[in-house]
Amino acid sequence: MRGFVLGVILTLLVVFGGAYFYTTTGHFDTRAVGNTPSTVERRTANQSVDAWVDGHAPKQANPFQPTRDNVMDGSMTYDKNCAFCHGSLKQPVSPMRSKFYPPVPQLMSRIPDDPDGNLFYVIKYGIRFSAMPGWEGVLTDDDIWKTVVFLKNSGQMKDNSQEQNPQNLQHMDNSKPSANPTSK
Ligand code: HEC
Repeated sequence: MRGFVLGVILTLLVVFGGAYFYTTTGHFDTRAVGNTPSTVERRTANQSVDAWVDGHAPKQANPFQPTRDNVMDGSMTYDKNCAFCHGSLKQPVSPMRSKFYPPVPQLMSRIPDDPDGNLFYVIKYGIRFSAMPGWEGVLTDDDIWKTVVFLKNSGQMKDNSQEQNPQNLQHMDNSKPSANPTSK
C-alpha cells in the first residue's frame, strides 16, 4: 500500500513538474497570432461554454421587439463596441479575426442561432480564456438586449444597406399590433 501511494505521488510529480518545467522554460508558444486551437481544445472549450451558459442564462424572451428603432439602437451599440473584432455590415470580416486566440467568430457572416437569453448572457459576462470581454457595467442590460435584436436581424439590414434608407427597415417594424397580430 505504501509503495502504491508513493508511486501515485511520484507520477503526479513527474506529470505536473514536467508540465511546469515545459511551460516556464520557454517551450510553450504563448503567441496569439500563428497559433490555432486544436480540434480537441475547440470542442472541449465550446462544450464547457455551452453547458455553463445553458445552465445560467436567463430563460426569457428578448424584452425588445425587432422594431426599426430597436434594431438601429442595437446596430449603433454594435458598431461602436463590437465591430472591431466581430466585423461590420460594411466589412463583414474584421482584420482582427485571426489576431486573437481563439479566433473571433465573424457575426455578420454567421449569425448565431442561440436563444436570445444565451447571447445576452455571453455578451454581459464575456468568455473566460478568450478575447470576448464582459460588458456588464459598460453597457446597460437594455443596450445588450437591443444588440441581440440587431444581431438576429442583421441579415435583413444587410439586404438594405446598399440604399442606406431607413424607410427600408419599415417592414421589420412589428410594433403595430396589426402588422403582427400573433405577437404579444
Ligand atoms: C476584443 C475583441 C472582442 C470584442 C470587442 C467583442 N468580442 Fe465578442 N467575442 C470575441 C471572441 C474572441 C469570441 C470567441 C470566444 C470563444 O471562442 O470562446 C467572442 C464571442 C462572442 C459571442 C459568441 C459567439 C458564438 O458563436 O457563440 C457573441 C454573441 C459575442 N462575442 C458578441 C459580442 C458583442 C455583442 C460585442 C460588443 C458589445 C463583442 N462581442 C465584443 C471577441 C470580442
